Amino acid sequence: MERLTVELGERSYPILIGDGLVRAIGGHVAPLLKRPRTMIVTDEHVAPHYLAGLGAALGAEGISFSSLVLPAGEASKSWQGLARLTEWLIGEGIERSDHVIALGGGVIGDLVGFACSIVKRGCRFIQVPTTLLAQVDSSVGGKTAINVAAGKNMIGAFHQPALVVIDPTTLDTLPRRDLAAGYAEVVKYGLIDDADFFAWCEAHGTALLAGDGEARHTAIAHSVAAKARIVAADERETQDIRALLNLGHSFGHALEAETGYSDALLHGEAVAAGMALAHQFSAANGLCPAADAARVAAHLTAVGLPHDLASAGVAADGATLAGHMAHDKKVRGGKLPLILTRGIGSSFVTEAFGLDMVAAFLDRRPG
Ligand code: NAD
Ligand code: GLY
Repeated sequence: MERLTVELGERSYPILIGDGLVRAIGGHVAPLLKRPRTMIVTDEHVAPHYLAGLGAALGAEGISFSSLVLPAGEASKSWQGLARLTEWLIGEGIERSDHVIALGGGVIGDLVGFACSIVKRGCRFIQVPTTLLAQVDSSVGGKTAINVAAGKNMIGAFHQPALVVIDPTTLDTLPRRDLAAGYAEVVKYGLIDDADFFAWCEAHGTALLAGDGEARHTAIAHSVAAKARIVAADERETQDIRALLNLGHSFGHALEAETGYSDALLHGEAVAAGMALAHQFSAANGLCPAADAARVAAHLTAVGLPHDLASAGVAADGATLAGHMAHDKKVRGGKLPLILTRGIGSSFVTEAFGLDMVAAFLDRRPG
């Protein structure tokens, strides 16, 4: 088992990574509890595979639990989902020192984290991520949110978990498409500031997606270490450090908005296309070698991820897509900071480009 720490002073917490950890979680949870009781929240796809094993592992340490199984999918990250969850937690008699366990992907993690930031003015939670996206990104760092009519992740809070337990074997049951979407976030760490890791992805990405355990473990541990470092340096995204984690997200959000945040384009798929577009936009503006942009597109294509508008299934014009970007919650003083790049592993934040330039670029159908 590997153990990392997110260093945040009194809010620091461990990340444990190891095959089979879900079925051995009790000993890691028990020391955190003031009373031997917890509540597990999961979804209907995850529950049949992992709820009983997790429960048995808690029971082995004398910890009792109740569980709530929510519908799978983004719709649970909503006012309705939040109301159902918070009222269930209160009905279960939750106390502020209790720890709720989020067993699932980014949807369950974001929803449970947000609920725990407000129930009784804040209680604790433990992330047990079961998608690659959640294991390498969303379970670490304390961003929690729900979606509302005005946009995705618009209502939320920074609320750090007390513990993150990553069991890579849970990926054995994850559909291939969700695995690939999560892999986009792995590639992102290479593109941000680690060219060697991008080269590792080029060499091992296909094996990882085919289920190679060693490649999977290396990618998760490397990604999580990068995320822990970034979050420790800039927990609330105020210093343009954590903002780099949004590489590909501004372009990606436009694609997700255009496809209605639906299964037509998963979040990770939108991020993949968005990262390729960010590199192509950087190359088109003389910031980044065109060969680097081509290399990014080639790797994403090789693993079956979209790398441009056409492969993302988006036909909208530049003005429409730039219009979606204008509603990004990262807009500050009317300007949208873009994450661009000087080459693979050299991303940076800039407000030097207006959305009119982005629209004109997108109208040229890059790809
Ligand atoms: P998800 O939680 O919807 O999971 C994807 C699908 O896989 C669901 O159908 C789920 O039921 C199923 N599933 C999960 N684990 C499984 C397993 N082991 N076996 C079989 N099926 C399994 O989606 P996701 O991609 O994990 O997360 C996307 C969400 O994460 C979005 O809402 C996004 O906004 C959020 N997100 C948050 C952050 C953050 O920092 N908080 C970062 C990135 C993304
Ligand atoms: N996933 C982006 C962040 O955690 O900041």
